[in-house]
Amino acid sequence: MSLLIGSGARGALFGLAFLAWFVLAFGGEGVNIWPMPKSLSLGSQTLYLSKDFKLTTQGTKYTDGSGLLKEAFGSMVDLVKVNHILDGRVPSSPVLAGLSVTISSPNDELNFGVDESYKLDVPAAGNLTYARIEAQTIFGVFHALQTFSQLCHFNFDKRIVELYSAPWSIIDQPRFPYRGLLIDTSRHYLPLPVIKGVIDSMTYSKLNVLHWHIVDEQSFPLEIPSYPRLWSGSYSYSERYTVADALEIVQYAQRRGINVLAEIDVPGHALSWGVGYPALWPSSECKEPLDVSKKFTFKVIDGILSDFSKIFKFKFVHLGGDEVNTSCWTNTQHVKDWMNKHGMNATGAYKYFVLRAQKIALSHGYEVINWEETFNNFGRELSPKTIVHNWLGGGVAQEVVAAGLRCIVSNQDKWYLDHLDATWQGFYMNEPLTNITKPEQQKLVIGGEVCMWGEHIDASDIQQTIWPRAAAAAERLWTPLEKLANDPRKVTGRLARFRCLLNQRGIAAAPLAGPGRAAPLEPGPCLEQ
Ligand SMILES: *[C@@H]1O[C@H](CO)[C@@H](O)[C@H](O)[C@H]1NC(C)=O
Ligand SMILES: *[C@@H]1O[C@H](CO)[C@@H](O)[C@H](O)[C@H]1NC(C)=O
Ligand SMILES: *[C@@H]1O[C@H](CO)[C@@H](O)[C@H](O)[C@H]1NC(C)=O
Ligand SMILES: *[C@@H]1O[C@H](CO)[C@@H](O)[C@H](O)[C@H]1NC(C)=O
Repeated sequence: MSLLIGSGARGALFGLAFLAWFVLAFGGEGVNIWPMPKSLSLGSQTLYLSKDFKLTTQGTKYTDGSGLLKEAFGSMVDLVKVNHILDGRVPSSPVLAGLSVTISSPNDELNFGVDESYKLDVPAAGNLTYARIEAQTIFGVFHALQTFSQLCHFNFDKRIVELYSAPWSIIDQPRFPYRGLLIDTSRHYLPLPVIKGVIDSMTYSKLNVLHWHIVDEQSFPLEIPSYPRLWSGSYSYSERYTVADALEIVQYAQRRGINVLAEIDVPGHALSWGVGYPALWPSSECKEPLDVSKKFTFKVIDGILSDFSKIFKFKFVHLGGDEVNTSCWTNTQHVKDWMNKHGMNATGAYKYFVLRAQKIALSHGYEVINWEETFNNFGRELSPKTIVHNWLGGGVAQEVVAAGLRCIVSNQDKWYLDHLDATWQGFYMNEPLTNITKPEQQKLVIGGEVCMWGEHIDASDIQQTIWPRAAAAAERLWTPLEKLANDPRKVTGRLARFRCLLNQRGIAAAPLAGPGRAAPLEPGPCLEQ
């Protein structure tokens, strides 16, 4: 632990105060892993990492044909060095020579519910000993490597990497299988390197779903080969994603254990679709929601989802369904005539649209996620495969699971990152299973998601609006309930340390003091901001 203390009397005083704060915040526990593992024990020895830190595999059925393990190990070693030059001499003892990995499953396909558990053992001081990782799947190993990286530190005096508090024995697995972050590329375009940076940052706190809200009323940035004029609705010629770009994002995420959930939000939030195909608008005066009365509307949805099925291999697709204002339907003569002919009022037409879109998605092999308004309006008629995505407020998940459907929790008052007044403490304390006591109903809450809506952020400030608040939610979604703090003050020091770690790794995570995207208050060490 290196404390940077300022010079002069003020510096000395400040240093003392800081030290007192430091001891309080950390309680001398020495465990600074985020998110907190399910169970762990530690010792008090310091090991030196060999300069030739090796990866070996043992008795494993996994062959690493696609190089995932080799790549993840290399990234971990880079993370641990955080760009420092290791030009010190590693003492001859006690040296940690490398990591020995055992993976039970030969399968490296990532899908929902894949086993993410792992065991990580770091031995006591010895010569040329190996730390051991055991996991069912490569995806458990990814998490183990992240945890391992947080045990290591660069020593500025010796200029080598050390591992503190050995021996370690860690047994870990996530509490929820779905731990998501939403990004929105319709309100502002996000360049590919920015999206990849977000994916990298997600791995550090073990989030595993990138919900890509691709299009909305403002812009349609994605190429759709079946309907090539759809991306005429992009903001500009260059603010677009080719199919190859989308595939690149999906593969980049998968190679890091993250699934990409694609969303098209219908029938509302789809005005931009009509720039290329005006027939999708009820009329040129009234452009939203999509015209429910035309076969063409559903042909386009079918074409999009057909193209999606070749790019987005995750088991789920998100079909939106929120904030549908049907006044364009009731005010446009041909749509009104169509509703009358079919004996539907506007609510009935909304239901018809959502259920028909669900059927199309199911026909392409997807299970469907819809925003909660669909459940609130006609929950009993949704496909039983529907996952209801909560957002309006608390208390929804308990109703969804009581109706036998699955649920993702994202209540906006706590887990919307674009709400800059939402604090990390609120993110931390938001419990997805509130008021849900029956085990069979608890299982239906597959997890939660923090949402980075794009109206007021772009490439310039997305990372500091996401972090560190998303990390607070990530621990809630990963760590067993009984190990979560019942008072956020108990984790302030550990989260502050994780925030500084993100900064060291080049992620622009904002200070903890204050709500979203706060600036540092005054000169001072990272841990105090
Ligand atoms: C490691 O090796 C060195 C000499 O190479 C020896 O002095 C030391 O006792 C050994 N340490 C352990 C823990 O085996
Ligand atoms: C629905 O849209 C109409 C016209 O576009 C608008 O006048 C009305 O205020 C909207 N209703 C709601 C509830 O937003
Ligand atoms: C729409 O129709 C359904 C029955 O088809 C009815 O239950 C509902 O009350 C109607 N809604 C309105 C706003 O008239
Ligand atoms: C949980 O139940 C209590 C008691 O019925 C209620 O006051 C509270 O609002 C509920 N919480 C949520 C998030 O629904």
